[in-house]
Amino acid sequence: MEKLKKIKEDAQKAIAEAKTSEQLYQVKVQFFGKQGELSLLMKEVGALPKEDRPAFGKEVNIVRAALQQSYDDSESRLKTAELADKLQKESLDLTLPGPHLSLGGTHPIPRVINEIVEILSRIGFSVRSGPLVESDRYNFTALNIPENHPARDMQDTFYIDENHVLRTHTSPVQIHTMENEKPPIRVLAPGSVFRCDSDASHSPNFHQIEALLIDKKVSMSDLKGTISFFIKEFFGSEIKTRFRPSFFPFTEPSAEVDCSCPLCKGEGCRMCGQSGWVEIGGSGLVHPNVLKQAGVDPNEWQGFAFGFGIERMAIIKYGINDIRLFVENDLRFLRQFES
Ligand code: PHE
Repeated sequence: MEKLKKIKEDAQKAIAEAKTSEQLYQVKVQFFGKQGELSLLMKEVGALPKEDRPAFGKEVNIVRAALQQSYDDSESRLKTAELADKLQKESLDLTLPGPHLSLGGTHPIPRVINEIVEILSRIGFSVRSGPLVESDRYNFTALNIPENHPARDMQDTFYIDENHVLRTHTSPVQIHTMENEKPPIRVLAPGSVFRCDSDASHSPNFHQIEALLIDKKVSMSDLKGTISFFIKEFFGSEIKTRFRPSFFPFTEPSAEVDCSCPLCKGEGCRMCGQSGWVEIGGSGLVHPNVLKQAGVDPNEWQGFAFGFGIERMAIIKYGINDIRLFVENDLRFLRQFES
């Protein structure tokens, strides 16, 4: 009973002095855990006279219950304090800015396409599309490109088989549109085109935008007015347009389209090769043979068409010096077009 009393007092004192729930737990282990002093004392019960054993056992249980009670009180007090302390230390500053999520931007090619479509849709043009793999007829024959024309050369054209090519320009969409729709027609066809060519200013896969207008009375002045309007809207009102006589099998007359260099304002710089002018594409009045091939009566209808290089326009507008930048996915390049 002396030993029991001492254990009780020591344990109560230790419980009262424990400063953390961890220290408190160690007190329990030492005094009234499974291997604790109380349990060891119980093992000595056999040394007592038989008649004293129940009373002693009862006393031990009372002490154990009392210690457990003190332990529980102390534990809940310490745990509450520890939790409050933890909450205090780990408190979140909700006013701190969150992690920065960067939004992607539109790639300059679709960006330029969207802008061109927006400008020309204001004067009645709407978008059509055509397949990237074309039969020889749509890419060449129906466009009045004869069998022996250099554009058919294996060196320029990716052939899929004897009769099919990756389209080398967007002009085949002219034929698809005239075959499928009744004039008057005002369509745009932006998209991928392919040519066997690759260096700083040529990519084997690039983009064009085709425009086709078919109506009763269409002249070169309609073509020039439309293109001049478009170029001023796209590059800026100070930009001039120049038409140079040229040749395309599918237009007659034909003209190459230049605009005054937006970078040097026509003064002459590296981008325009010191000429003050940059070329953006081809144009002309739709050749009667092309109208006939597509089932449109050339005696009733006339039209103009033009095809501009998207990469060229982007390069000129943004002063980009290498066409390969468009496909390299270099974020330092792309991020300049984010907003
Ligand atoms: N298809 C021609 C090219 O790729 C451009 C063009 C289109 C010329 C329409 C005249 C009319 O070079």
